[in-house]
Amino acid sequence: MADKLSLLILNGANLSRLGKREPHIYGSRTLREISQTLTESFADLDLNFFHSESEGELILKLYDAEDSGMIRGIVFNAGAYTHYSLALRDAIAAISIPVVEVHLSNVFAREPFRRNSVLSEVCLGVISGFGEYSYHLGVLALKSHLSQKP
Ligand code: DQA
Repeated sequence: MADKLSLLILNGANLSRLGKREPHIYGSRTLREISQTLTESFADLDLNFFHSESEGELILKLYDAEDSGMIRGIVFNAGAYTHYSLALRDAIAAISIPVVEVHLSNVFAREPFRRNSVLSEVCLGVISGFGEYSYHLGVLALKSHLSQKP
């Protein structure tokens, strides 16, 4: 896959329950289905997927991505960690790979605690509220960003 742009799609807390979890908010498709559609939509890219419920594993994956030398950008839905994980924020700040924060739901139109992200400040940008298409937009944003880099 050396000739294709490699990106990591990273998912955190409770996203393994997509499809079953509050479908009126998050939709009825599973994380596997969403990932499959992304792979099909971006056949020109080398998309890599990782999910963990654990903050520590997510941190290690961010470091792995950097150390691999292969991953050029990360689309990250941290779930509720978004709102309070200073450890994830520090890990994003510690790597040089651009990270796009994504959310299926519009976090600004929900409970007040969801309006605050401790990650946004160290991310390239934030996409929120477009259902699974948020991931799609995240990939497009990274493609565009990376194509402008020398
Ligand atoms: C979420 C929004 C978060 O507030 C929530 O805790 C999630 C999912 C989203 O994709 O809309 O788990 O990140």
